[in-house]
Amino acid sequence: MRCRIAPSVLGLNHSDMRGKVREIIAGGAEMIHFDVMDGQFVPPITFGAALIEGLRDLGDTFFEAHLMTQSPDRHFEAFASAGCQRIIFHSEATAHDHRLVQHLHDLGVQAGVAINPGTPAEAVKGVLGLADLVLVMTVNPGWGGQKFVSAALDKVRQVREWDAKVDIEVDGGIDPTTLPHARAAGANVFVVGNYLVKQPDLGAGMRELNALCV
Ligand code: DX5
Ligand code: ZN
Repeated sequence: MRCRIAPSVLGLNHSDMRGKVREIIAGGAEMIHFDVMDGQFVPPITFGAALIEGLRDLGDTFFEAHLMTQSPDRHFEAFASAGCQRIIFHSEATAHDHRLVQHLHDLGVQAGVAINPGTPAEAVKGVLGLADLVLVMTVNPGWGGQKFVSAALDKVRQVREWDAKVDIEVDGGIDPTTLPHARAAGANVFVVGNYLVKQPDLGAGMRELNALCV
């Protein structure tokens, strides 16, 4: 499966989001991962669809929104209209994951379902074959810069065994050391936040990460 890096904007200087995202895109980013937090599902509040809409003219880079929100479907239309091509919601935030995946497809966007480190892989079994992507969190959602939870890789292996085709994304604590382990477990999309933000040159950092995918 094609390996892709999904740089997260979470740790970027929000007062210069446009400039920073432009640097990452210039470095060869194929997609941008937007971490949306509502202060309810997770304690912090980040940003909404308006920020994403304001960056949409930077190019045709694939945009995905990772909704760490309660009542995720309340926000689907706003993020789809803002130009997100994929919207990821948390399994823990709904009893209706199957319907929400259908809802996203009806809006013309890809659907992703995320699970926290404490949620078993079985939680996404019912949407395999329908959802475009499963996001296995490799930290507890809410903050960048946390330590990689390697036990989550057992779930990546399990989902990959069930479904050879679905995109499996890992999010949290991904860097050049942890990425190969997640890849060997069967993940093919890798969110990178803190590691990239710490690089003195975002474009060069992006190129280095993309090189890990060859
Ligand atoms: C955490 C977010 C992540 C975060 C990852 O709640 O979902 O996307 O940006 O950041 P790092 O790579 O720093 O763990
Ligand atoms: Zn994320």
